Amino acid sequence: MKAYAKHFDRFEALKNEMEEGRRNGIDYRADRGKTGAIINLYHPKTIDCQVSEIIEETPDAKTFRLSPANGYMPPFLAGQYINVFGEVNGIRTSRPYSISSSPLQRMYYDITVARVADGFFSDYMLNIVKKGDRLQTSGPSGHFYFNPLFHSKHSVFIAGGCGITPFMSMIREICDAGLNRNVTLLYGNRGEKNIIFHDELKELSERNSNINYIPVISDPSGIYSGQCGFIDACCVQKFVPDISECTYYICGPEAMYEYCLPQLESMNLPLRKIRREMFPSARDITKEKGWPAGVTGQEEFSVKVRGVRTITAKSGETLLAALERAGIIIPVNCRCGECSICRVKLISGKVFQPRNVHLRLADARFGYIHSCKCYPLEDIEIML
Ligand code: FES
Repeated sequence: MKAYAKHFDRFEALKNEMEEGRRNGIDYRADRGKTGAIINLYHPKTIDCQVSEIIEETPDAKTFRLSPANGYMPPFLAGQYINVFGEVNGIRTSRPYSISSSPLQRMYYDITVARVADGFFSDYMLNIVKKGDRLQTSGPSGHFYFNPLFHSKHSVFIAGGCGITPFMSMIREICDAGLNRNVTLLYGNRGEKNIIFHDELKELSERNSNINYIPVISDPSGIYSGQCGFIDACCVQKFVPDISECTYYICGPEAMYEYCLPQLESMNLPLRKIRREMFPSARDITKEKGWPAGVTGQEEFSVKVRGVRTITAKSGETLLAALERAGIIIPVNCRCGECSICRVKLISGKVFQPRNVHLRLADARFGYIHSCKCYPLEDIEIML
């Protein structure tokens, strides 16, 4: 028995219980593995899926319906995501996608993928993956969901582009289950043709008085008569009369956070009222606040992976991307600096870590970094 176990409150009682069991021929380990099996049932590390349907949502976005290849889809909370794995140009990598289907049915998960300029994984999903293909995903994860204990009954959803997906899951659940929650959805897009789920959102808001759907178009066509411009403080105040009574949720492209967060803050809302989905690092990390002057993002450094080998990484790419490119696979999930799964220990050298990385106190103290959100600034050595 380890020395620290003696500090456990019930240590003596438990020891006596085990000895009593042994005397009577009872194996106290009889439950061994059963708890783990139940946990794995509800929180599997991976799910094998089949693409059972592909739905064209807009010219640049498709919904992939993922059905279980064997077994079943585990339960999830509306707003959570799965990490989808794939091999792109010989590189095993992954991307997190929010589930847009309702958690009330578990025959399938829907994820929606939008094209991004110079996309790597999105191009793979949109151009290569077809109906019937097998995909592996993580189990559902994430903290971007409604919590009735802490969050207001009136939710203001601020979505941009493909950031509608977690809200779609929440709205579908609210409508399907008849939940007593009010939603104001401000959904920003460049043009009318880019709005994902428009017809369904319109119909749901017409049928459910607690759902208020407002598309906001920044570059409207001549015939568009709805709300135009960006989602700023004026826009929020126009559609949300009781601004201090709501919880605000934001999900969208990086530029939207940069614009909308200060707008919400200008309304003197307490920070606890603003929830935002985590997002991956900036596509051009050199523009990130705090990026060291004079570093171009093109510098190449060596990364010695202790006990494995030495690889090369660019200052402008995440350490995780460099590891994956070199074929070194480590556990990964959110790719946003939130879940901690991709942590590695930094033995020597310096890295840049942008804002919003959820490092624990122990990480900072013992030199752990999140490989999905850190960038080498010199030759480094790490331990997996
Ligand atoms: S994969 Fe979640 S923190 Fe890196």
